Amino acid sequence: MIKKCLFPAAGYGTRFLPATKSLPKEMLPIITKPLIHYGVEEAMEAGIRNMAIVTGRGKRALEDYFDISYELEHQIKGSSKEPLLKEIRHIQNSCVFTYIRQKEMKGLGDAILKGEPLIGQEPFAVILADDLCVNDNEGVIKQMTKVYNKYKCSVVAIMEVPQNETHKYGIVKPYEQEGNIIKIADMVEKPVDAPSNLAIIGRYILTPDIFDILRSIKAGVNGELQITDALKIQASEGRVLGYKFDGIRFDCGSIEGFVKATNYMYKKL
Ligand code: G1P
Repeated sequence: MIKKCLFPAAGYGTRFLPATKSLPKEMLPIITKPLIHYGVEEAMEAGIRNMAIVTGRGKRALEDYFDISYELEHQIKGSSKEPLLKEIRHIQNSCVFTYIRQKEMKGLGDAILKGEPLIGQEPFAVILADDLCVNDNEGVIKQMTKVYNKYKCSVVAIMEVPQNETHKYGIVKPYEQEGNIIKIADMVEKPVDAPSNLAIIGRYILTPDIFDILRSIKAGVNGELQITDALKIQASEGRVLGYKFDGIRFDCGSIEGFVKATNYMYKKL
């Protein structure tokens, strides 16, 4: 069973400057809830109650968000506004949050490695909160934990992207596909010549040996330690599956995706 979810949340979010000058990008709201709130709800739906967040400098707002604000609680108690806090209270009451700081921005692989003390030796989920995934029936992480429970290996969420956008993603080279499950031969981060149009999006289930692999590899594209390069080693041993998830994904790390997600959620209100 997957009990912990890691949220790498140390990036600068430069595309949203100046807003992200003093606000972590994971705290940018889609309507009334910050991006990370949606990620935590998705993990909770999969039965996960332990949220491990890798933060960086200037990210205190994240810790405050999942903590109780006594002053606010006192002000709002009994007022018509009190129901607005219902969802965040539910999260606070049901989950445990742990935090660790990534001191230098050395890539997603490094951020995940920094989370090791919070995760330990067990399989875990990873959610990149700026990839907002929506499915009213069953969230993407829940779908992926089912795949993990059956195959007991790492699982990456896969989505088809236009060929001219493959350079933005980790792209897998499949060797066999059965329904939603893709057997992966290889993968490459931000390819120049993409081996397919099957992109990894920000949902992973990782087996804990990934930490040793991350320690053993060198920095890749952009001089950063890449999770894709570590997964590539597991893939070469047949230990990674791709999962074509059911649902919609919004790239909320881009302004266009953020606006689309906002409009989508607004229509659902
Ligand atoms: C990261 C991963 C990449 C993945 C992407 C999904 O890239 O490194 O493999 O395809 O997330 O959003 P980033 O968006 O941080 O450049």
